[in-house]
Amino acid sequence: MSVAGKRIVVGVSGSIAAFKVAGWVSALVKEEAQVSVMMTESACQFVTPLTMAALSGEPAQSDMFAEGAGERISHIRLAQEADLFLIAPATAQTIARLAYGLADDLLSAAVLASRARVLVCPAMNSQMFTHPATQDNIAKLREYGYQVIAPESGRMACGDEGPGRLPEWDVVREALLGSLVEQDLAGQQVLITAGPTREPLDPVRFLSNPSSGKMGYQLARTARRRGAEVVLVSGPVSLDPPPGVRVVQVQTAQEMYAAVMAEAPAATVIVKAAAVSDFRPEQVFAGKVKKEAAESVLRLERTPDILEKLGRMKAEHGWFLVGFAAESGNIKEEGRRKLSRKNLDLIAVNNILSPNAGFESETNQLLLLDANGETELPLVSKEQAANLLWDHISRSA
Ligand code: C5P
Repeated sequence: MSVAGKRIVVGVSGSIAAFKVAGWVSALVKEEAQVSVMMTESACQFVTPLTMAALSGEPAQSDMFAEGAGERISHIRLAQEADLFLIAPATAQTIARLAYGLADDLLSAAVLASRARVLVCPAMNSQMFTHPATQDNIAKLREYGYQVIAPESGRMACGDEGPGRLPEWDVVREALLGSLVEQDLAGQQVLITAGPTREPLDPVRFLSNPSSGKMGYQLARTARRRGAEVVLVSGPVSLDPPPGVRVVQVQTAQEMYAAVMAEAPAATVIVKAAAVSDFRPEQVFAGKVKKEAAESVLRLERTPDILEKLGRMKAEHGWFLVGFAAESGNIKEEGRRKLSRKNLDLIAVNNILSPNAGFESETNQLLLLDANGETELPLVSKEQAANLLWDHISRSA
């Protein structure tokens, strides 16, 4: 699941945000998409076709009647071969052209000639964006089946505040990937936990582990991309929230327990990828503990086992329940033991002694165990591992 090999036409219209889209073209090319850029006449006032051509590796087209246009790859053929049109930034003018089916410039003619998916990223002054004429035109684009990505609110280049800013690439990239992949998790309400927990001893010290949260965040991102509604209950990590995912931040195992119990009734699938601390200091001191007291302060007690509790509630709610296990020896036996003790439908076991898997790594190698047997997944990026896990879950859930 990627943009590699996909034919993407980036349609640029004349807003100051056009310069940001030059970066997007470059990002798409890095991911091995075949990118062609079409520009409106006014877009060429903001970014030169040469910039876009250099970044995309193909001539950027703007003039339907340019000298030599007949010999170049025709815009009609390009329109017919495209997998996706990304119109960004889409000005009020270009949105109006598309809404009325005009074909008076290269970009609008190409969109009419295509049956590819169309993603539109409006970017303009907030008064222009909120004007009923623009809003009506946007509603029309949605009726045609085009996906319109809401602009962000904030301070605009012209100094005004309000909606109309081009979204971040991460948000657009997710929408773009989502429109290219099968929505096999549509209708699922997915609850995911990720990251470590922190169990305080005093105001400046806590017990935790090196979990980065990357696996859980990729699970949330990819589930959303495949059409699920996703809630992510996250311990403290330094990752950006995945676009389109509701994130509930927690610190301790007890807070994670409360958040999961509040969110679980609405879920259909629960994946517990968090590295929950198994114990916590018995006493949390209000003031900083003095070093002289070191030996006498650290008495530990167990935290609630959230997954085990969910396992006991499963029959009543009908969840598909997935756990993770980080093991350093006898990984199959330990995995099987947890699968049955916690009453899970599936467990994904990490070998934490393997150099490229687990806690802080970018890659992961999972062993999946369920009632039907075992599946050894290859060593892949955490994003790919997440997709393989969803493939497995969507076949079983
Ligand atoms: O028993 P163990 O901690 O190895 O099990 C790991 C699995 O149980 C993970 O899915 C983890 O998120 C979950 N877990 C939990 N609550 C705990 C400890 C672990 O939900 N207190």
